[in-house]
Amino acid sequence: MNIVLLGLPGVGKGTYAKKISNIYDIPQISTGDMFREAMKNRTKIGLLAKTYIDKGNLVPDDVTIKLVEERLKQDDCKNGFMLDGFPRTIAQAEALDKIVVIDKVLDFTASEEIIIDRLSGRRICKSCGAIYHIRNIIPKVKGVCDKCGGEVYQRDDDKPKAIKERFIVYKKQTEPLIKYYTKKGILRSINADWPIEQVDNVISDARKALEE
Ligand code: AP5
Repeated sequence: MNIVLLGLPGVGKGTYAKKISNIYDIPQISTGDMFREAMKNRTKIGLLAKTYIDKGNLVPDDVTIKLVEERLKQDDCKNGFMLDGFPRTIAQAEALDKIVVIDKVLDFTASEEIIIDRLSGRRICKSCGAIYHIRNIIPKVKGVCDKCGGEVYQRDDDKPKAIKERFIVYKKQTEPLIKYYTKKGILRSINADWPIEQVDNVISDARKALEE
């Protein structure tokens, strides 16, 4: 199954994508993670992406589309994949339609107040990308990832000014995708307001939507 995840920055897409992709045994393809990896390695794409990401803006379509197109050619995508953070513009969605057929789009929703709390408290592992939160998903040793021992840090784009800009960008450039995929009849809305202890409710609703 070829799946796309939509939802405001910080709604929990990465958290849910890890769980759902494990259940279906398909790769989670996060353009955000790919850009952060490139930034860490100071590649040409990484250095370019950083100038956009730190301000809360989108990386240009041509760069992002090429990156995803290459990734989808890899063997592990043959039996399906879960795109987390792509497409984010109509141009990206149209380009994706020329490469593959998308079966389902899950649009995760939660109130902005809840999302701002999730984003401002989020910490991630620099090495493996594991996701933490300062209040409810705390590493056993402060600043050290439980899974790989990597450094746990706050993303530059999780600071208040960038969060505000990311919301504006989402509403202007990504929200039109809801109409785009609704028209195709493949979009399902999933309530993601649940607290982290009840994240299984989100996953169970997502599974129902994928299997209907
Ligand atoms: P990206 O990394 O994709 O960022 P995003 O979409 O803004 O999403 P986030 O990773 O911030 O949040 P999330 O929804 O995955 O939430 P998470 O699970 O971590 O992209 C970063 C940047 O890269 C973009 O701004 C852009 O510049 C660039 N980029 C990426 N893709 C691009 C594209 N296609 N085109 C152009 N540019 C692109 O959860 C957040 C926090 O909440 C965590 O702490 C988590 O523990 C907690 N949490 C999650 N679920 C719950 C819950 N149910 N209850 C309580 N806490 C929860």
